[in-house]
Amino acid sequence: MTTHTVLGIESSCDDTAAAVVRVTDDTPEILASIVVGQDELHAAFGGVVPEIAARAHVEKLDHAIEAALSQSGCSLADIDLIAVTAGPGLIGGVVSGVMMAKGLARATGTPLIGVNHLAGHALTPRLTDGVAFPYLLLLVSGGHCQFLVAHDPQSFTRLGGTIDDAPGEAFDKTARLLGLPQPGGPSIQKIAETGNAARFVLPRPLLDRPGCDMSFSGLKTALLRARDALVQANGGLHRQDQADLAASFQATVASVLTEKSRRALDEYLEFNPAQPTLAVAGGVAANTSIRAELQSLCASRGVDFVAPPLALCTDNAAMIAYAGLLAHIAGETDDMTLSARPRWPL
Ligand code: KG4
Ligand code: ZN
Repeated sequence: MTTHTVLGIESSCDDTAAAVVRVTDDTPEILASIVVGQDELHAAFGGVVPEIAARAHVEKLDHAIEAALSQSGCSLADIDLIAVTAGPGLIGGVVSGVMMAKGLARATGTPLIGVNHLAGHALTPRLTDGVAFPYLLLLVSGGHCQFLVAHDPQSFTRLGGTIDDAPGEAFDKTARLLGLPQPGGPSIQKIAETGNAARFVLPRPLLDRPGCDMSFSGLKTALLRARDALVQANGGLHRQDQADLAASFQATVASVLTEKSRRALDEYLEFNPAQPTLAVAGGVAANTSIRAELQSLCASRGVDFVAPPLALCTDNAAMIAYAGLLAHIAGETDDMTLSARPRWPL
């Protein structure tokens, strides 16, 4: 029996996270996963301010790590590997995490590995559901949107993705347009429950074109027009208008993601007919109506649908610990020359 206990550190956007994951043979167990959000620090600015985020990570990282260790019942001496997000992301935050990880690794003599944040999201379906390779993955977050075939922990093929905004970004911008709090995804989802999704017909660009590429930037322009027309006609935006706009927006994103998933599945299944799995990951995968539509697409195609628990869809350090361990087992290690990479495609 082989056991590895890994400390994960994540600070690439606006969540300061630390986790302890133990993998016994092939079976992972999350012993602790601490996520300290910064929503209130950025609320007044209508979006994440990189400088404020970086300072908050510096302040909160050691508390998050201490909390993760204490909740897991481990001490630093029990940790076999320190895994840290080394990119892509907001550089100040990534640097804070990398420096913290290097300091801990140097002081304790523990091996260190830098992890691609996107690999963390992409491997989450294995961490939570033990999905076997290969699988088709829809990675949808605040900064990313792509269809990937996951062949093994370090090899991914991209089938397509957004050519402009990521869906999470569109959720956040739409929330701002409607005067709803950030992050936009959960606020839109909440108000959309009472909205009429059929009231506004919004554009679904690239749907008429073959392939898996998507575009979401036109949506906000259409929403802006619809909102301004309502404000002009009624002297303001009523709550029902907000709810109807939010519901129409959410349904449009869900239908684009589902239609493109249908095409990505066609491409994927042609080469992997014996592994019919679609997994989702990333913050937008927490959206219940998107999950439900993808679930019913998969059911109609006889494809397994895997959606990690909500807390592991959004940013967390358990996915970083797990992805770091898989890379380490495959022979990778970093040293004190590890540096932060603002851009790092999978
Ligand atoms: O993966 P994540 O935590 O951070 C990135 O790596 O980007 O994703 C954050 C994004 C935000 O844009 C947020 O609005 C969106 O995920 N999000 C959601 C929901 N929860 C978070 N979008 C739609 N519905 C949700 N329930
Ligand atoms: Zn993320």
